[in-house]
Amino acid sequence: MRIAVLTEADPAEPRVASVPETVKKFVGLGGEVVVQSGAGATAGVPDSEYEAAGAKIASSAEEALSGADLVLKVRRPNAEELGKIGKGATVVAIMDPYGHEDELKAMAEAGVNAFSMELMPRITRAQVMDVLSSQANLAGYRAVIDGAAEYGRSLPMMMTAAGTVPAARIFIMGVGVAGLQAIATARRLGAVVTATDVRPATKEQVESLGAKFVAVEDEEFKSAETSGGYAKEMSAEYQKKQAELVKGHIAKQDIVITTALIPGRPAPKLVSEEMVTSMKPGSVLVDLAVERGGNVAGAKAGEIVTTDKGVKIVGHTNVPGRLAATASALYARNLYAFVETLIDKEAKALAIKWDDELVKATNLTRDGQVVHPNFQPKA
Ligand code: NAI
Repeated sequence: MRIAVLTEADPAEPRVASVPETVKKFVGLGGEVVVQSGAGATAGVPDSEYEAAGAKIASSAEEALSGADLVLKVRRPNAEELGKIGKGATVVAIMDPYGHEDELKAMAEAGVNAFSMELMPRITRAQVMDVLSSQANLAGYRAVIDGAAEYGRSLPMMMTAAGTVPAARIFIMGVGVAGLQAIATARRLGAVVTATDVRPATKEQVESLGAKFVAVEDEEFKSAETSGGYAKEMSAEYQKKQAELVKGHIAKQDIVITTALIPGRPAPKLVSEEMVTSMKPGSVLVDLAVERGGNVAGAKAGEIVTTDKGVKIVGHTNVPGRLAATASALYARNLYAFVETLIDKEAKALAIKWDDELVKATNLTRDGQVVHPNFQPKA
């Protein structure tokens, strides 16, 4: 069982799919692990540490992929990589499948069995494999750090001989995994924290972290959570009430962090241009939803925009990648936990149980076909 770990081809991706800890475990399962030289460089892992964990180092992607049964990646393989992966090999990555039907077809045509980690069901057994959570948690933390770094004042209240500095006010919009970590981080840094969401379950979570909950709690709010635990798209009427409530609140905030997402929909527009303009010069907004259309008017993916009034809108992309070492370590563990279930430990070989619910939920392509029900051509 030959396992290849590649250097990510996309220069915007500093993470790596396996770290020495998981390499060691794969070797323990009888795997022959081949790591492309430099694969861990941007995540703080030199080749020598992979070697010490039992991996062989390959000088090129081609060499690493030669004869590989299993390919571990962060991002979906590109056309060049697909040309080097053998037919019948299994590839596991964060495939970003929605809106990329052509790329899925290309993987099918290349004859690879592709698995998409972000389609993992959120059930107890798969919690350890949940890349959305492991990465969103880090993004929430990093958003506060990035916001604090752009903010020209301190976050905690300070009583000094030269006078008292007030605590910064931080408002978190969207309290999923990222938002909860953002609240906890902002609190640790001494800010006065408020938060909002449309799912009623979040109220208690916000309060248990020592922050104040701000939301329109009407009848629609009471049923805003789907059975899967996600938010619904709210009515125009609710959005109007929400905007009214938030408008006055945002004007008093120093840092606003937005994380609001609705599965399969563009990110909800929560902060209007008028609200941005109402903030004090030097205030900062960090839009974690910028890659999905953005929660903040004027946010630009990959940029820090400063408005005429001196308000900064931070639109970093791949925020988990801004903590590449930690993000890689957690992603690698998620990946190992899943891949372990694909291996027959007696035979020391891949033995995918195609009727397993985790396999069915994540398998995109098999035997030359796109097999996932969500990506079938529309009739
Ligand atoms: P997400 O990334 O899809 O969305 C982030 C947040 O934005 C959500 O809390 C959502 O309610 C909120 N939002 C959407 N529209 C909004 C609006 N108009 N205004 C304000 N907020 C809005 O969510 P994430 O982080 O994936 O979490 C979703 C749920 O899944 C949560 O209930 C979480 O606790 C649950 N979860 C369950 C896991 C498990 O059981 N294994 C693991 C991780 C999360």
